Amino acid sequence: MQRRSVLRVLGGGVMAAPALGLLSACSSALPPQALAAWQAATTMEVGTDPRRWMLAHAILAPHSHNLQSWLVDLREPDAITLHCDLTRLLPETDPYSRQMMMSQGTFLEVLALAAQEQGYRADIRLFPQGEPGPSRLDTKPTAHVRLVRDASTRPDPLFAQIVHRHTNREKYDDRAPAPDAVKALFNSMKDFTGLRYGVVGDEHPKDRAQHRALAMQAWQVELETPRTLLESYRWLRVGPTEIAQHRDGISLNSPFVRALSAVGLFDRSKAPAPGDSAIASQIQTFNDKLSTTPAFFYMVTADNRRSTQVNAGRAYVRAQLAATAHGLSMHPLQQALQEYPEQTANYAEIRRLLAVDRPEDTVQMWARLGYGPTVEAAPRRGVEAHILKKE
Ligand SMILES: Cc1cc2nc3c(=O)[nH]c(=O)nc-3n(C[C@H](O)[C@H](O)[C@H](O)COP(=O)(O)O)c2cc1C
Repeated sequence: MQRRSVLRVLGGGVMAAPALGLLSACSSALPPQALAAWQAATTMEVGTDPRRWMLAHAILAPHSHNLQSWLVDLREPDAITLHCDLTRLLPETDPYSRQMMMSQGTFLEVLALAAQEQGYRADIRLFPQGEPGPSRLDTKPTAHVRLVRDASTRPDPLFAQIVHRHTNREKYDDRAPAPDAVKALFNSMKDFTGLRYGVVGDEHPKDRAQHRALAMQAWQVELETPRTLLESYRWLRVGPTEIAQHRDGISLNSPFVRALSAVGLFDRSKAPAPGDSAIASQIQTFNDKLSTTPAFFYMVTADNRRSTQVNAGRAYVRAQLAATAHGLSMHPLQQALQEYPEQTANYAEIRRLLAVDRPEDTVQMWARLGYGPTVEAAPRRGVEAHILKKE
């Protein structure tokens, strides 16, 4: 009897290999429309309104789940008012929108770097109409940015890294981050007060083992909690058509997943049953990456006010840009830091590992740090999608 290979797939179904063969010739490279914003930032002329050039860089900032929740009001000359797009939130995994605020901060910092590059000082006033409360955001602006021409403004070398910075979720080699790179990373955040940061690596093998174990556990909780998994599914973009149409979220473009999706074997409307083999294999793949992760980077703030969250995002992107300049990759691991009930034990454990005692102290970022392979950029929607069109 001819042996027909059969693949077990997401949702527990099976699929004959020949059907997949049809797609095996396809590339998993993202469609060019999804990546056009990266190209635009490097080729665009500054033009008569330099704000657009600055924004072309700011939208390349990292954002949790690549939601790109940035809305800008350009009606006031020489100023940019930033709002958070309240239609683009993660209510299950980020119930108090802490990561949303960090992601507003990454945008502001990259915007400021771009402004400096053009000889402008970006005077950033956070929450000019008052901070939102601790549990939910409001429609008031996150920041008012006045752009002031200033002969004393000097370009920041981190600017050059904006187009090279990418979140790297691949396996890192076991080489420890070079001490001078770690020093540069810390140095990039020196202007932020009330921030404690560090790296847990080769010097602390026992601690690092606990960090690895915790990251594995927290990831598993997120994948096995139906509503948090479904929230991720909502922002998954599978295949070139969806990726090019949305240009946000997390892209899945491997021929295998596209094939499953095409024949209805990857149903994003339902969470897989407990013990599902596809989820188990995703956990295994992630565990393999974690088990050799050479170092973890962390950032703790002395309170958890909205402005502190925004500033934590500003500091994080600077650290990631500095890491990029030294050939280092970063991959945030927010799962254990997330405030939903199923993560309570993991949330307590990361605080214990980082000796965070005072209730108001908050772990804002925890990330893998190491030398990874080259990865592709993530999609962006382009500047126009972020400009508030008001009468
Ligand atoms: C506040 C914040 C939290 C993030 N958390 C995670 C995370 O838990 N897991 C992950 O894989 N990526 C995380 N990321 C990275 C984003 O998913 C990433 O920035 C986005 O997909 C865009 O990709 P890029 O950074 O390569 O441009 C986070 C980014 C930010 C700013």
